[in-house]
Amino acid sequence: MARISGQLDTGLHEYLVSHGSPPDPLLIELADETERRAGAQAEMQIAPEQGALLTLLASLVNAEFAVEVGTFTGYSALCLARGLVPGGRLLCCEIEPEWAAIAQRYWRRAGVSDRIDLRLAPALDTLRALPGDQKIDLAFIDADKPGYVDYWEELVPRMSPGGLLVADNVLFHGEVVDPDAEGNAAAIRKFNDHVLADERTDRVMIPVGDGITLARRR
Ligand SMILES: C[S@@+](CC[C@H](N)C(=O)[O-])C[C@H]1O[C@@H](n2cnc3c(N)ncnc32)[C@H](O)[C@@H]1O
Repeated sequence: MARISGQLDTGLHEYLVSHGSPPDPLLIELADETERRAGAQAEMQIAPEQGALLTLLASLVNAEFAVEVGTFTGYSALCLARGLVPGGRLLCCEIEPEWAAIAQRYWRRAGVSDRIDLRLAPALDTLRALPGDQKIDLAFIDADKPGYVDYWEELVPRMSPGGLLVADNVLFHGEVVDPDAEGNAAAIRKFNDHVLADERTDRVMIPVGDGITLARRR
């Protein structure tokens, strides 16, 4: 059954991370501090291989303007910022100042804070306030799951032709296959169906981390 992507055991996961742009000491320190400060909520942070993927994707699309919906303590934003073209900008949407303060500290240390604009507000308000002519080259959706469809609808019309949308947690711990799923799993099921029906993008779902969808604006 080699054509089915499977769950990785710990050893294989460590091998994969160590052989694909492993996180540098600063990202490791950020992950450690997040675990200490956020406890169980630290699992909201993306996996290290997802971070490496985000940096690569941002550089592949030559991102001049990127948007992150859901920043938490800043791990994914730091990875995205590292992939921007010189002079590129990243807009980060977050509502919790306590998490954002940690993020800002690490962005400063990484030397990327000058290219990140943090908006401490509900993400939908931030997206709706974007200038009409602002084109987005890469968008990463990773905030509250019931909001995903609304974020998608605000983002897709603003994407550059060929721009890339990335959505996290699209497999939701495997719960998406349950037609009776409730709560966040049900919200993700609704989002996945919405994306599938959207003819403005071409997309693929891949089993990295908790599952991500990559969608290219036509
Ligand atoms: C899954 S975490 C993001 C993880 C982050 N991408 C990382 O890799 O570390 C989701 C974040 O979205 C934030 N959030 C939830 N609802 C939001 C909203 N309506 N607007 C902006 N941020 C929101 C939460 O405070 C939380 O920090």
